Amino acid sequence: MKIAYNNPQAITVLPNNAKLKYEHDFNCLTEIVKDKNFKPFLKWVGGKTRLIPQYEELGLIPAEFNTYFEPFLGGGAMFFHLQNAGLIQRALLSDLNSDLVNTYKEVKDNLSKLKQVLLKEFAESHDKVFFEEVRNKTFTLDVYNAAKFIYLNKACRSGMYRVNKNGEFNVPMGDLTQKIYQPILLSEANLALNSNNVAVVNTSFFNISHLPQPGDFVFLDPPYHGTFNGYNKSPFGEDEQVKLRDVCREYNENKIKFLLCNSHNSFILDLYNGDEFKINEVWRNGTINSKGAERGKVKELIISNV
Ligand SMILES: C[S@@+](CC[C@H](N)C(=O)[O-])C[C@H]1O[C@@H](n2cnc3c(N)ncnc32)[C@H](O)[C@@H]1O
Repeated sequence: MKIAYNNPQAITVLPNNAKLKYEHDFNCLTEIVKDKNFKPFLKWVGGKTRLIPQYEELGLIPAEFNTYFEPFLGGGAMFFHLQNAGLIQRALLSDLNSDLVNTYKEVKDNLSKLKQVLLKEFAESHDKVFFEEVRNKTFTLDVYNAAKFIYLNKACRSGMYRVNKNGEFNVPMGDLTQKIYQPILLSEANLALNSNNVAVVNTSFFNISHLPQPGDFVFLDPPYHGTFNGYNKSPFGEDEQVKLRDVCREYNENKIKFLLCNSHNSFILDLYNGDEFKINEVWRNGTINSKGAERGKVKELIISNV
């Protein structure tokens, strides 16, 4: 992997398998982070970390490609996986959720200040009253909003991000013992975001869907049809699912590789029915429904041309 880290004094990358140590002060970061140990720094509903091994087994992740696009970024499980595998030469990561993208940008470009604010202004003040107080507060500085976003993600129940129709975060607090400040996780994410020409952008997929070129790879993980849709004020409805299918048709015609995940239901099966796409099934552990009885294995669709 090419490491293009722009502040070599700040973080030391050890060879794989080196023992992790951690010492920290904000003027001189002496954390030691591991190259190729990248993983999402946020918990995200619909995160794909546990499903990626099944995509691998099915041979759905291409062994090479030019630019990588992840336009429904969320926790970015596929991006971190591909960085670990050394497959990324250039990447455009994007999401419609502006608070999420602001957080990625601060992790990428302003890590030291972000850690300081997260620890001193949020993690150390964490209790029920503080959680309620900051839940829907907007700060002037991007770094405070990013620290707040990470704080809420770690402190809320099940690490679930959900907003109401006014765009307000409305998840209650989780267990008080949840770990809020995880500096090594953030440093590793910072390294992954600063390796191999990665850009992060806040936009709808439909504004950038024309960018991929033949030989590029696009991982499409939209809000699933008929399930959780509370990532943003504007939901991803059936019209958007149809537009997305039309984009996949264009990608197919233009030899742009794509992998799309969605729910296993007749609406999605009908949309993608036909010879042009490969359709596979994978299984995930159901966790979105809170009632124990509804938990269990849930079948999902993977549609691709890889
Ligand atoms: C299923 S999640 C992605 C999960 C991600 N793959 C992971 O591993 O964590 C779907 C994401 O799509 C984003 N989203 C919803 N509508 C969008 C749109 N029109 N354009 C771009 N992103 C959108 C949501 O904000 C959310 O982060």
